[in-house]
Amino acid sequence: MADTSREFYLSWLNDAYAMEKNVEEVLERHVKQAENYPEIQSKIQQHLDITRTQADRVQSCIERNGGDVSSLKSGIANMMGAVTGAGSSGAQDKLIKDAIADYATENFEIASYAALTVAAQSLGDQETAQICQDIIGEEHEMATWLAKNLSTVSQTVLQEAPVK
Ligand SMILES: [Fe+2]
Repeated sequence: MADTSREFYLSWLNDAYAMEKNVEEVLERHVKQAENYPEIQSKIQQHLDITRTQADRVQSCIERNGGDVSSLKSGIANMMGAVTGAGSSGAQDKLIKDAIADYATENFEIASYAALTVAAQSLGDQETAQICQDIIGEEHEMATWLAKNLSTVSQTVLQEAPVK
């Protein structure tokens, strides 16, 4: 029984790591796509830098628990790809779709780390529980920024759309 819950725990930590690596790739693309919008671009770049440190912190939790990240499952990463790769069209239109996908991703991450926090606490891994809480704060900050700025991004896209 104890072994099984440990295995679950380790596989959830691995999922979180795979998720961060996937988000990293997606945000790299979104930084490029926002090149004409410096304010949006710098916020995405800032969260990309944070995401890289999140992957490192989750990796340290995996290793402290006797796992390693070389044999990753990619189930969650693939699922995230399905969310973030949804739809494609013109460059301006892409900006709002990226923002919507990023908002969904941040909330997906928050839910994942909330579940991991409970697992870490119940297994007595306080260090990981604290790291998950710190990461939730960072994802929440980005989700809040996106929620506040979605309307601005949407208006910008519409204003810049060619009139027929
Ligand atoms: Fe993240």
